[in-house]
Amino acid sequence: MLDLLIHNATLPDGRSNMSVAVQNGCITEVSAGLQAPAHEALDAQGQLLSPPFVDAHFHMDATLSYGLPRVNASGTLLEGIALWGELKPLLTHEALVARAMAYCDWAVAKGLLAIRTHVDVCDPRLLAVDALLEVKRRVAPYIDMQLVAFPQDGVLRGTTGPQEHMETLKRALDRGVDVVGGIPHFERTMADGALSVKLLCELAAARGLRVDMHCDESDDPLSRHVETLAFETQRLGLQGRVTGSHLTSMHSMDNYYVSKLIPLLAEAGLHVVSNPLINITLQGRHDSYPKRRGMTRVPELLAAGVNVAFGQDCAMDPWYSLGSGDMLEVAHMGLHVAQMTSQAAMRQCFDAVTVNPARVMGLQGYGLQPGCHADFVLLQASSQVEALRLRATRLRVYRRGQLLAQTPAATSTLFMPDRPDSTSWRQGGK
Ligand code: FE2
Repeated sequence: MLDLLIHNATLPDGRSNMSVAVQNGCITEVSAGLQAPAHEALDAQGQLLSPPFVDAHFHMDATLSYGLPRVNASGTLLEGIALWGELKPLLTHEALVARAMAYCDWAVAKGLLAIRTHVDVCDPRLLAVDALLEVKRRVAPYIDMQLVAFPQDGVLRGTTGPQEHMETLKRALDRGVDVVGGIPHFERTMADGALSVKLLCELAAARGLRVDMHCDESDDPLSRHVETLAFETQRLGLQGRVTGSHLTSMHSMDNYYVSKLIPLLAEAGLHVVSNPLINITLQGRHDSYPKRRGMTRVPELLAAGVNVAFGQDCAMDPWYSLGSGDMLEVAHMGLHVAQMTSQAAMRQCFDAVTVNPARVMGLQGYGLQPGCHADFVLLQASSQVEALRLRATRLRVYRRGQLLAQTPAATSTLFMPDRPDSTSWRQGGK
């Protein structure tokens, strides 16, 4: 007997009236109209069953700290970094863990079951690293979490000197941090930025780890560290294991240069993560009008065959006062800023918060095929596009076939003469 049988589901590829059979935490069969005895049966009523949302770019050590010790008055990336520097001496293990665990509750309720989070490794005590390693352990039954060793102050620029910074970063990796990070555009010079990319990629290659660098997160059209990142990826044979995050300078670069750059990224098998909510909020702050939006060139990268994901990046922290772990909100914003409004492009935006970030993280067993983990989200929508339009309610969230979270359908009761008694904002019906 099956553990769980979901029937009458619509799948992201558009197939409807599909059944998904679950046994021992795995999907055993996906077919139309399957009948089989099961301990639990669920009628999806034609709604969209999706693999869980994935966020390949987040900062969980800073999350839910908004207002501590003050708010970011200018709204810039650089004031955010300075503010984080003021907050760091005040952090405690317990508060870091409590805030991160609270965010993970939000994430699960939004069907977000895999998160790659950067963690600042400039503090020689590695306070945030130890806190997030504890969080990773505690949420492991329900969230796949990867940690990135992120030298927020610059691995070469930091105040304790490059040698000690690199040693601290290596100690973080020794303790179990999964991925090597970096921030080349924040190093003192362009040359130091390029050197940091080289050193950190060599470190990742030596340890067999993936790389995910904050890269060119500025409006400077001449910030070109992603070119170096692609070069080092190829030189060291790291294809498919390296991610360039943010890449906001690409918004401002010369078109001719980008026509050379994007094929280089594709050739190196580089993954790209764009963070629409944060990029358009932090960038362009020195502009009058027109104000640049700073989001990287998502449709052009996708057209070149580059794997692009959208990330949440921040939620209620020194850089961003909003956010709730809702990856449909993230994709909704990305869709608008990138003008990805065709039906096909909107489906690409849905992929950018599901299958694409799963590839960034190298998740195993992700998807709705037989043999995959029985991890999925039932949405109050009949298609990916409707899910994006409505930032649809996550009716049920499952992990390994077990129900993790449930939310009542969004419906408003109406009290108007000659009109229906309720609406759920669905086309052609309630
Ligand atoms: Fe970031």
